[in-house]
Amino acid sequence: MLDLKNLSVTVEKRKIIKNFSYSFKPGKIYVIMGPNGSGKSSLAYSIMGHPSYKISTKSRISLDKKRIDNIAPEKRSGKGIFLSFQSPLSLSGVTVRELLRLASPNRDPLEVRQQTDKYADELKISKELLTRSLNEGASGGEKKKLETLQAAVLDKKIMIFDEIDTGVDVDALRAIATFLRKHKKNKTYILITHYNRILKYLKPDKVLILIDGDLKKVGDKKLASQIEKKGYLKLVS
Ligand SMILES: Nc1ncnc2c1ncn2[C@@H]1O[C@H](COP(=O)(O)OP(=O)(O)OP(=O)(O)O)[C@@H](O)[C@H]1O
Ligand SMILES: [Mg+2]
Repeated sequence: MLDLKNLSVTVEKRKIIKNFSYSFKPGKIYVIMGPNGSGKSSLAYSIMGHPSYKISTKSRISLDKKRIDNIAPEKRSGKGIFLSFQSPLSLSGVTVRELLRLASPNRDPLEVRQQTDKYADELKISKELLTRSLNEGASGGEKKKLETLQAAVLDKKIMIFDEIDTGVDVDALRAIATFLRKHKKNKTYILITHYNRILKYLKPDKVLILIDGDLKKVGDKKLASQIEKKGYLKLVS
């Protein structure tokens, strides 16, 4: 469904992703792991079409066999891809409720509001956070919950979560992970993570290891626990 072919990405004249080819299938859970700076977030940004990440002319990104690497980020989102940011930005003057209403122009605003509040309840997000400017003064864990909330209301068929489990306490992790499991349905999840703890709740079909911009290894969930025990160097050398 989401096909990356010979994806090479350059940022500031530095090649960050090198000839990455992989097909993500519908309904599956993928995990991408790799050392700091190996290019995981850059890969996610490139899929979404961030203008700073230049892809080579030989690279192809396709969704349901149609090229999307030549269309704008908002169009890619319209075709069904959502990215939850590793470091979510604040948005002054706009609450998450307003943002989700604006981002859902074809839906009944009341229904969007009710769904937002219901999901916020499930994620144990306080009402006060819903009425504050998005992410302003929010703690690391609160931001991750707000990202999860946005993902669920916008309800895209492919959801990329960049370190949704980083900086969250055990209870917040359980709330986020059980929420994502409950609402997964037939969606594809791509989880970028450094840890195995979220994988207790969301069992990955495939684990991809990215090292220095290269897709070095693909395995099943055992690969993630091997990484945790042994680190990257031993495993891929
Ligand atoms: N906009 C940018 N300008 C300059 N360098 C960048 C930019 N974006 C990414 N890089 C560099 O590209 C490399 C890969 O970064 P990236 O954020 O993709 O790594 P990552 O695998 O997500 O790491 P982490 O696990 O720490 O989140 C890093 O060396 C980073 O400094
Ligand atoms: Mg990253």
